[in-house]
Amino acid sequence: MTAPATRVLLSAAQIEQRVKEMARQIEADYAEGPLYLVSVLKGSFIFMADLVRAFERLRVRTEFMAISSYGTEKTSSGQVKLTRDLDVSIEGQQVLIVEDIVDSGLTLSYLLNLLGARRPRSLAVATLLDKPERRVKPVEIRYTGFQIPDEFVVGYGLDFAEDYRNLRDICVLEEIATSASGAPAAWSESER
Ligand code: PRP
Repeated sequence: MTAPATRVLLSAAQIEQRVKEMARQIEADYAEGPLYLVSVLKGSFIFMADLVRAFERLRVRTEFMAISSYGTEKTSSGQVKLTRDLDVSIEGQQVLIVEDIVDSGLTLSYLLNLLGARRPRSLAVATLLDKPERRVKPVEIRYTGFQIPDEFVVGYGLDFAEDYRNLRDICVLEEIATSASGAPAAWSESER
C-alpha cells in the first residue's frame, strides 16, 4: 500500500491510554463478572483485543458478531443485516457491546433491539469513537473513548474500502471529499 494521505487525529499512545482508562471504569462497574463482551466485526477487532488485555481482574468472555448493510447508502437506508450471530446464549448475562465507532446509530440500534430481546441481565455499549453530529437514531452509550468531529477516519480497525485497518493511529483521510452520507465520494459500488 502506498503511504496514505492522512493526518493523525488520535495517536497510538493516546488510544492506548484511553483504552486503559475505559477498562478501569468498566472493571469498577462490573465487579461481579463474567462480562460478555460482544465485538461487532470487523471494525472493533483491534479495540476489542486491546480492551480485554487491559482488564486486570474482571472475568470476561469474548464473543463476536458481524453486521452488514443492505444497499449502498447505509446511513440513509437504515437497513442492516446480521451476517454472523453469537454462538452462545446471553440470557441472564451481563453484556457489553464493543464498537469501534457510532455514527448514525443505526447499527447499534439494531443490535440493542436484537440482543435486548434475548433477555440479558444487563446490556450496555462501549465505543472507542463517537461522531455525535451524525446521529440519526438516538442510542445510549455508557462508555465512550473519544468524541470526534465529522471526518472520515481510518486506522486501529477502521477501514476505507477494507484498507488502512492496520494503522496504529486513527487518522483522517484528508484527500477524500465526503458525501452527505459520510461515504467518500470517490467510492465505487464495488468498494463499499
Ligand atoms: C462501522 C462500525 C459500526 C457502524 C457504525 O461498521 O464498525 O458497526 O459502522 O455506523 P452507524 O452508526 O452509522 O450504523 P462498517 O459498516 O464500516 O463495517 P466494518 O466494521 O466491517 O468496517
